[in-house]
Amino acid sequence: MLTEADTPSVRAVSAGPGQVDADLICAPVFEDEGLKDVHWLDLAVGGSIGRAWASGEITGKTHELFFADVVDSAWQTRRVLLVGAGASGRYDTARARTVAGAAGMAARARRVRRLACVCRAPGEAPPMAQATVEGILHGAFRDSRFKSEDSGSPPLKSVELVVGEDALSQVQGAVERGTVLAACSNLARELSNEPANLFTPRVFADRALELATGPNTTVEVLDEEAIASHGMGLLQGVAQGSVEPARVIVMRYDPDNGGPGPVLGLVGKGVTFDSGGISIKPADGMERMKRDMAGGAAVVCAMRAIGRLGPAVRVIGVVPAAENMPGGGAIRPGDVLTAANGKRVEVLNTDAEGRLILGDALTLAQRLGATHLVDIATLTGACVVALGHHASGLLGAPADWVESVRQVADRAGERVWPLPVFEEYADQLKSETADLANTGGRTGGAITAGMFLKAFSGGLPWAHLDIAGTAWHEEAQAHHTKGATGVGVRLLAALPFDAKW
Ligand code: BES
Ligand code: MN
Ligand code: ZN
Repeated sequence: MLTEADTPSVRAVSAGPGQVDADLICAPVFEDEGLKDVHWLDLAVGGSIGRAWASGEITGKTHELFFADVVDSAWQTRRVLLVGAGASGRYDTARARTVAGAAGMAARARRVRRLACVCRAPGEAPPMAQATVEGILHGAFRDSRFKSEDSGSPPLKSVELVVGEDALSQVQGAVERGTVLAACSNLARELSNEPANLFTPRVFADRALELATGPNTTVEVLDEEAIASHGMGLLQGVAQGSVEPARVIVMRYDPDNGGPGPVLGLVGKGVTFDSGGISIKPADGMERMKRDMAGGAAVVCAMRAIGRLGPAVRVIGVVPAAENMPGGGAIRPGDVLTAANGKRVEVLNTDAEGRLILGDALTLAQRLGATHLVDIATLTGACVVALGHHASGLLGAPADWVESVRQVADRAGERVWPLPVFEEYADQLKSETADLANTGGRTGGAITAGMFLKAFSGGLPWAHLDIAGTAWHEEAQAHHTKGATGVGVRLLAALPFDAKW
């Protein structure tokens, strides 16, 4: 069911554009530069670019597309695509990624198999090359697995990144990294898009066994019995309303020379469907809750990327997977559950299930030896209200660990934004009956959810990413399809390389 086999071969070349043999060659064009740097392209197409510029058909506005046929018979590639890239002074890696995304998406829609892309790198060549590769592969992603009549647009076969001769040797590693990260985030998108009847906790675990493979990487799946023996009562509680049993996916990356030192623990929410349970959700839009496992998918696919990229730091991935359903055995509001760390939790709302399963998974990650924790989850609607769809929420403790995660996210090109963790927010979780309640009232919902998780972090450096607003696109745009985004894979895979321990 998964199509990573479709990932095109990607390489950097430094041939003159006339020598590149592709179906389509694309290049960014800036609104303030006109044809300055693409004059040679205009010559190849017999001046049609210049005429389009003069008439105002192309302006360089972001994601604007202009196709032209090559007339120069010495050229191998017969078609050119100019992609508007906005102001040249604002062409950073983030912009390069979406501009390349628009090119990848347009190329796929036009059934291009062999795409070449001119990489213009006003900044440093390697990060720009990496972002360009990530953008192309992200933009060329399609998910028509459940359509009987496929739209007929085949995957890209090859991508050639055209760079200057001086940059060629510098960008090789970056091109490989970009290819791995984009392929792994596209896999996460596929996992998240799968419907919940076909993608149960057991299927999720089977996928992890197939996917989180690679050098120095192992996967183990905990079944009901193992979950019980770890005392994971919060996870058991969430799963008991469903006929589908829970699973916990445990992945380990142990580098060859990994001695003592930090062990990064990645924990991802794997709710394969969130009906809300007895505190059931409204019908409108409930189908989106098949993607309530996007955090878990990000962890599985980041572990796959980590195995391929080979950092020197040990990493443990833990994904608690369960279905939140209102069956006859379901937990009720007012029920008290005992967590793996011994804390007793009063369930005030069965729809606040993500924090329950993550609480136990954070405890498990500590038992397995994690020294630094990062969790990722489609956790709260409140985070969507706070930040909308353009940034994931970030909180945690201590501040320097959170700041380190923020910086890694920035460099990986994943937008996150900090939320405060003042102790007063934790007061909202006080329970009359048990040690703490699983909801903290209407206000500050993204933060109180985070404070709940903090109670299970065992005092280790811990950061929490709320991706409720960023895990899927509600609409298609010039550079991406509608549906899952693969958010988190690039960030999580960069942590073992770049975090400050
Ligand atoms: N999976 C949802 C959060 C969510 C909402 C993700 C919208 C993506 C889009 C989560 O399990 C949930 O239901 N949270 C509740 C918490 C509340 C009951 C305290 C919420 O946000 O309403
Ligand atoms: Mn819920
Ligand atoms: Zn949920």
